[in-house]
Amino acid sequence: MKLMKTLIAGAVSMAFLPAVPAFAYEAGDIIVKAGVINVIPKDGNAEVGNSELDIDSDIQLGLTGVYMVSDKIGIELLAATPFTHTAEGDGGDIDGVDVITTKHLPPTLSAQFYPMDAASKIQPYVGLGVNYTFFFDEEDDAGLGSNGLKPSFGLAYSAGVDYMVNDNWLVNASVWKVDIDTEVKGGAADGLDVEIDPVAFMVACGYKF
Ligand code: NI
Repeated sequence: MKLMKTLIAGAVSMAFLPAVPAFAYEAGDIIVKAGVINVIPKDGNAEVGNSELDIDSDIQLGLTGVYMVSDKIGIELLAATPFTHTAEGDGGDIDGVDVITTKHLPPTLSAQFYPMDAASKIQPYVGLGVNYTFFFDEEDDAGLGSNGLKPSFGLAYSAGVDYMVNDNWLVNASVWKVDIDTEVKGGAADGLDVEIDPVAFMVACGYKF
């Protein structure tokens, strides 16, 4: 009888144990986010004679998918709709002249660290990853006869924060600093080094599966 009472008491107390909150980040979770992403190249991207080239910024639809390896480590893939950038002369002989326009896609794969307790509604993170950027649909605005830009491999540093609105929906803000260095292929500017090295900002809504 005493044993019975103990077992029942045990079962009842287990039933009322505080459950792990449903918004906890756990191994196996998949978090998908979609939002607007602004890619802002650094100032002064190439030297051309007595001028420099400045590449303008562009805003597109950004998509990220995160797979939680544990409650503190995630793997993130960043994707986006294609960015279009124009390189324009700044100063010197080609001041204000559009030199080249190109589209690019910068897929980025990062390992992320989430320092907060898994049950926290606010989940800041930092990430380190690799970026592969390829360029396409180049327009040779200045008639240099170039054949586009070489693809780039580089490191990407990132940080962000997720805020769980409820068990599944979240809002997110994130930033990446990406090392994108490329070279003009062919034509009068063959071999010209172009350093894009942008910062990208994204504001997104997300869903945790
Ligand atoms: Ni660079």
